[in-house]
Amino acid sequence: IASPPAAAQKFEPNYDEAKVPAYQLPDPLVMESGDPVTTAEQWPARRAEIIELFTQHVFGRMPEHRRVESKVVRRDANANDGQTVRTELSVIVKSPQLDPSNPGDIEKSIEIHVLVDVPHSRGAANGDAAKPAAVPAFLGLNFQGNHTVTSDPNVRITPSWVRDRRDDSTEGNRAVAGGRGVAASRWPSEMINQRGYALITAYYGDIDPDTDDGFQNGIHGLMPEFIASLPPEERPGSIAGWTYGISCILDAIEKTPNLGIDVSRVGVIGHSRLGKTALWAGAIDPRFALVISNDSGCGGAALSRRAVGETVGRINASFPHWFCDGFEHYNQNENALPVDSHELIALAAPRPIAVGSATDDKWADPRGEFLAARAASPVYELLGLPGLLDDEGQTPSEPPQPDHAYSSGAISYHLRAGGHDLAKEDWQCYLDFADRFLQQD
Ligand code: GCU
Repeated sequence: IASPPAAAQKFEPNYDEAKVPAYQLPDPLVMESGDPVTTAEQWPARRAEIIELFTQHVFGRMPEHRRVESKVVRRDANANDGQTVRTELSVIVKSPQLDPSNPGDIEKSIEIHVLVDVPHSRGAANGDAAKPAAVPAFLGLNFQGNHTVTSDPNVRITPSWVRDRRDDSTEGNRAVAGGRGVAASRWPSEMINQRGYALITAYYGDIDPDTDDGFQNGIHGLMPEFIASLPPEERPGSIAGWTYGISCILDAIEKTPNLGIDVSRVGVIGHSRLGKTALWAGAIDPRFALVISNDSGCGGAALSRRAVGETVGRINASFPHWFCDGFEHYNQNENALPVDSHELIALAAPRPIAVGSATDDKWADPRGEFLAARAASPVYELLGLPGLLDDEGQTPSEPPQPDHAYSSGAISYHLRAGGHDLAKEDWQCYLDFADRFLQQD
């Protein structure tokens, strides 16, 4: 189903709770057959169904298989004034499958540059003979390039396509030195390191350029035969591509010796479109020990059925390359969607998940994110864990006050006062929450 171009659509977002349409959420604990899921043993089968539904109707399908090589290209044991061991990795992702009987098949590859900041005093990366215990980590894609997350002049500037920002950070669609450090507030690596965590980040455009290029470039370009073999509506969009890239980065972290990271304690984090990506990455890659969605909104943590702020029809019109074409069936037809965002959140279970919203980020529907986090609770409870709890240990009827987190259960929700951003205050919530699950001492 083709949507009219964004410009041709007059879109008036709804922010009035009285105008939210009546809806019923799909029950995460009822199988497609109608059978109820009543025991923890039955959850994996239902979980697999929900993953398949999101694959077919929302994100599209990527190959199961990955081929990844990784090499250390730079190490600086004195970054952040000596507090951080900074490693840059070159991660090569190759075509996942070649037909050995077809000598014409050409192997293609892309390179993802990964920045790894490990606290100096903690990680094995400092070469300490005593080999201190490896640390837990946060892995998140960034929007503008690794050189924008720090002012360190040695970090490589991405050669990949970037959005032309018409400021000192870009020249046309190329990143330039003027962008060094411009996104540092979103990636407070010193603070993260001081709290005993490593930060792993990479530029999302190294994986797939965020343009509607017909999927010729980036990760989709590695697998034309695979994509052509899929039903057209299941062809993966960019979010599925970025998600695949995140798993490739974790593969690379696993393969690289002496990084000082404990791969069994890595959380995946993302903001906005990359928050949608983090949710899907956490859902399909069970190696992530914690999942964090920051201001992810429509197609992420916000309930599609509420149609508050950005809607399915609007997002498919403005960003036709993010989701699979099957998602377009639900433009102005959200009630027909066989899943909703509470199930995307529940796919993290039993692993902890944090959902963060911001008061002024109405486009992302903070209340819809809160309701989704709460509606994921029954899955956690089935698995014997508390879901989203308020300060009295009860299921909250309303979102928390601004700048307060409900985080005593296995689902955390907080509402930061302010606009659409990944801010230090958000990190403080995520670090506090992570401390309960990822720190061993
Ligand atoms: C747009 C888009 C959102 C997205 C956001 C972002 O606002 O409509 O869905 O989350 O960009 O990624 O910053």
